[in-house]
Amino acid sequence: MDMKKGILIQETKDGSHTLYNESLDETYHSTHGAVQEANHVFIDNGIKLIDKSDINILEVGFGTGLNAILTNNYAKENSIVINYIGLETIPLGMDLINKLNYLSENKYLSEDEFMNIHKCDWEIPSQINDSFSITKKNIRIQNFQSEHNFDLVYYDAFGPRAQIEMWDRSIFENLFSLINHGGKLVTYCAMGQFKRDLKSVGFVVECVQGPPGKREMTIASKK
Ligand SMILES: C[S@@+](CC[C@H](N)C(=O)[O-])C[C@H]1O[C@@H](n2cnc3c(N)ncnc32)[C@H](O)[C@@H]1O
Repeated sequence: MDMKKGILIQETKDGSHTLYNESLDETYHSTHGAVQEANHVFIDNGIKLIDKSDINILEVGFGTGLNAILTNNYAKENSIVINYIGLETIPLGMDLINKLNYLSENKYLSEDEFMNIHKCDWEIPSQINDSFSITKKNIRIQNFQSEHNFDLVYYDAFGPRAQIEMWDRSIFENLFSLINHGGKLVTYCAMGQFKRDLKSVGFVVECVQGPPGKREMTIASKK
């Protein structure tokens, strides 16, 4: 990355913040609404579709932790148990995290939990509350292996224009092997080649309505 360029806070149309990566010329979320997009893609079309009370989730691209925070809320509201693993290659500093307005966007999230999700150590599991434990891992998805399988993968990488290597078929072949039967991978992306790659590694692929500003998103299931 060009070190002269940085990561800046930007407000999206629903009032919630996102970050803008100047080197990649890419935002971390939809500019139509960061919280709105995360709720639509990962909560409404992700965790709500998993019919289990004890769910293992892998997130590719932990970033601001927004998806983890919303998932924590969902787990508490619905009395389910989540074991969450978030992969991230560029952990963000607390200077940026402290400026994000996600606390005010999340009425069920206590300040302690928000801070605990962000301040907990990397590489080891941290129990945030009775419903939610998280392990943040500073590793590239391309190098990730796991002894445990997942019920749900949140695939929240930068888009193909900014980071084409994140959309390589080999990644989805590995993820298919790490997902339980009945499990799913969800993402905001609905690119044609990506969907063909998902099918070719064994997923059953469904396109559903995308969040505001995006026609479609993808749900890939391992039957
Ligand atoms: C679209 S942003 C993440 C959005 C994040 N879920 C959020 O809510 O803030 C993509 C993230 O993927 C991370 N990333 C980039 N390359 C990666 C890789 N090879 N493996 C895992 N994460 C990666 C980026 O640093 C960035 O934080």
